[in-house]
Amino acid sequence: MKNNLTSQPISTTGRVRGEQKNQRPVVIWLTGLSGSGKSSLADALEQRLVAKGCHTYLLDGDNVRMGLCKDLGFGDRDREENIRRVAEVANLFVDAGLIVITSFISPFHRDRALARSVIGDECFIEVYINTPLNECERRDPKGLYSKARQGLIKNFTGIDSPYEQPGAPDITIDTLTQSVDQSVDVVIEYLKNWDAK
Ligand code: ADX
Repeated sequence: MKNNLTSQPISTTGRVRGEQKNQRPVVIWLTGLSGSGKSSLADALEQRLVAKGCHTYLLDGDNVRMGLCKDLGFGDRDREENIRRVAEVANLFVDAGLIVITSFISPFHRDRALARSVIGDECFIEVYINTPLNECERRDPKGLYSKARQGLIKNFTGIDSPYEQPGAPDITIDTLTQSVDQSVDVVIEYLKNWDAK
């Protein structure tokens, strides 16, 4: 089947669509434990970018899992498929000229590497939200750690499913010492240098 497909050349490229919006399309890929602060940072970052006149889209784990990925669970295979789909969607949005923020635990090196290769190194910024497990568990904003400890949720990241820390993220955010606003500043500053490249 694959052998009967031909890549169709399209004249209007992602770069052209980005130039029309006066921006360099990019995916800002947030990774970290549940409760680490990914969604809060993603939301605040998008608001800041929109206020600056940028054209954005935010893909957030819980939301995507209620739609595009509602057939998937939390076993390793399903997480892999979740991230594969998100990477492909993010890639389309980058091709549409947008600044895309993704907020997924994305616990496995291999899947984050796949996302980077699908989207392309030149359009991919990995941001590690480095909040220790004990702090995520203390915050437990959705009460899920408590349920996982009681055995009510299986395969919970950090409890009975692994999180592989990024080896060389482009940005690391320490939420113990940085506020959401300060973290947004760090990413915005990084993007300024990125744009100048
Ligand atoms: S990922 O591992 O496939 O990247 P994703 O970011 O989409 O995960 O979804 C994580 C969200 O699903 C968490 O923020 C949490 O609200 C919810 N969730 C439900 N069950 C689990 C689980 N077993 N492990 C982690 N998160 C879970």
